[in-house]
Amino acid sequence: MTAGKGNGGRPSRRLRGILSLDDFEARARRYLPKPLFGYIAGATETNASLRGNREAFQGYGFKPRVLTNVSQRSTETALFGETYAAPFGIAPMGISALMAYRGDLVLAKAADEARIPMIMSGSSLIRLEELADIAPRSWFQAYLPGENERIDALVDRVAAAGFKTLLLTVDTATLANRENNVRAGFSTPLRPSPALLWQGLSHPAWSINTFARTLLKHGIPHFENSYATRGAPIMSSTVTRDFGKRDHLDWSHFMRIRQRWKGRLVIKGVMHEDDAEIAVRCGADGIIVSNHGGRQLDGTISPLCALPAVADRVAGKAVVMLDGGIRRGTDVMKAMALGAEFVFVGRPFLYAAAIGGAAGVSRAAEILKDELSRNMALLGVVRPNEIAMDLVVDNRCGRSIR
Ligand code: FNR
Repeated sequence: MTAGKGNGGRPSRRLRGILSLDDFEARARRYLPKPLFGYIAGATETNASLRGNREAFQGYGFKPRVLTNVSQRSTETALFGETYAAPFGIAPMGISALMAYRGDLVLAKAADEARIPMIMSGSSLIRLEELADIAPRSWFQAYLPGENERIDALVDRVAAAGFKTLLLTVDTATLANRENNVRAGFSTPLRPSPALLWQGLSHPAWSINTFARTLLKHGIPHFENSYATRGAPIMSSTVTRDFGKRDHLDWSHFMRIRQRWKGRLVIKGVMHEDDAEIAVRCGADGIIVSNHGGRQLDGTISPLCALPAVADRVAGKAVVMLDGGIRRGTDVMKAMALGAEFVFVGRPFLYAAAIGGAAGVSRAAEILKDELSRNMALLGVVRPNEIAMDLVVDNRCGRSIR
């Protein structure tokens, strides 16, 4: 993981001064038009879950071991038969290609080079086949279409493209109340307005490098992967209708996919241990404990709080993973101590792609991996899966977590 550095190993100008994942956010706030930054950064209604996701990590502290000889430590982690460079990957994020030029491809390529998994969003603006061609180890995330025939056709399309891991996001029975998007001036469909035009003019680097370049080379972006066929352009009013019909979906749809999809099947957005158990009974190979980065039901507890009960129920039967609020190597370690075998990170990687392209994403992966390696040494472990529960305590009571 050395990309993102210029001659002599120095970071390129755009990435200079970036020392932690949070630094990407500060840079992206200046670089992106306000509605786009707001779309990434925000969540839903009062943003309670968004805040909770971060605060949950502060609730735990470490009880390090000393003199354990950590010279041979490695962050490498096995998952679904692959060995990754670290126990983290890139979470699926919709419309990434509006934030960074060819955003999904940038994320996928950089992830492949860094040897970490990247999950392509079903709400993406680049054809899934194109991404599978350049980074075949990526995973694909689908939002289930409302009708069985459309579900089957999408599953067949993903398989034909060569993806080996299909991930279903199931916490979106209906569109969340993203009033903060409206306040920031972001909408789907995107509606041209004088305010939007001003945002474009006042953020020329994004307007030229991403927006104009996309329009000139690829035309108006469409939702390419919601179905087996091409979806609506981002400026069309049919976009909302395309998203709308998911409230009747249930476990029978999940089982239908399980029967059709021969690869690995992961379910994302499980927060209740009973649902984790049902998912395993229905054939899930992996579960991502997630509240969608706080972007669906506001007030949902943090994934970190939900994790121990889920791991208790299904560890050993399915791979337990987590996303939401991970910003530091120490966060990865806390999640692993509480039962996660792997974690995913969302917003920081998209900010990194926006401001620095592939080099930015590489740099983000490198920062998180370095933090993890350093802090594993300070904790006294040589492998991520050695981060056991006795090394982490609940800060509020000072007792072991179980
Ligand atoms: C998301 N997320 C998401 N999840 C998903 O399953 N499909 C999607 O298309 C999207 N789109 C999306 C867009 C943006 C801009 C963000 C920030 C998030 C949720 C994402 O996969 C993940 O669950 C959270 O981002 C994890 O939280 P952090 O790491 O961002 O705190």
